[in-house]
Amino acid sequence: MPLVASDDLKILLTAQQIESRVAELAERIGRDFPASPHAPPLWLVGALKGSVFFLADLARAIDRDVSLDFVQASSYGDSTETSSNVRLLRDLDHDIAGADVILVEDIVDSGHTAQALLRLLGSRKPHTLKLATLLDKMSRRAVEVPIDYRGFEIPDRFVVGYGMDHAERYRNLRDIRILPAG
Ligand code: IMP
Ligand code: MG
Repeated sequence: MPLVASDDLKILLTAQQIESRVAELAERIGRDFPASPHAPPLWLVGALKGSVFFLADLARAIDRDVSLDFVQASSYGDSTETSSNVRLLRDLDHDIAGADVILVEDIVDSGHTAQALLRLLGSRKPHTLKLATLLDKMSRRAVEVPIDYRGFEIPDRFVVGYGMDHAERYRNLRDIRILPAG
C-alpha cells in the first residue's frame, strides 16, 4: 500500500457539499415519514463501518424522532475488489417489525451488499423499508438495488473519507477524496 498523505488525494466532494446534500436528504425523509401519534417508529439502520458519519449527520438533520441500529456485512478486506459473497458479521439488536426502516449505506458499488442487507431487513417484517446511500457508483452495478435516497452519483473511482476507508485508513477525512489507482 502506498503511503499517501491525505493532502495528496484529490477532493471529489467537499465537506460543505456533503453537508448541504445530507440536509436535503434529511428534509425529504422528514416529509416522507412525518411524525404523528399513529406513525410507526422510524429506524435508521447503518451499515458498519463506512456509513457512521453519514448516519450521524443524517439522523441529526431529520426533524423527528429516529432510532438507530447497525448491521455489518463482510467487506472487501484490504482489497478494492467487490464480491458477491456477502457475510453478515453483525445483526440488529432490535426488533424492527412494523417499523419504518431506512438502511443507510456509505456507497452502493456492485450492489451485492445492499441487496443482501435489504433482504435481511425485509425478512424482519418492517412496515416500510427504504435504502439511503450517500454515494452511488452506478456504472459498477452488478445487481439491481432500488435506491430511495441518493446523495451523489460518482464515477468509477475508489474513494475515501467521511467514513469510507482503504484498509481502515482515511475514514476521518472531512471530505471525500479519490485514491489514486495502483
Ligand atoms: P458492493 O457490495 O460492491 O455494493 O460494495 C459495497 C461496500 O463496498 C460499500 O458499503 C463500501 O464499504 C465498499 N466500497 C465500495 N466502493 C468503495 C470505495 O470507493 N471506497 C470505499 N469503500 C468502498
Ligand atoms: Mg469499506
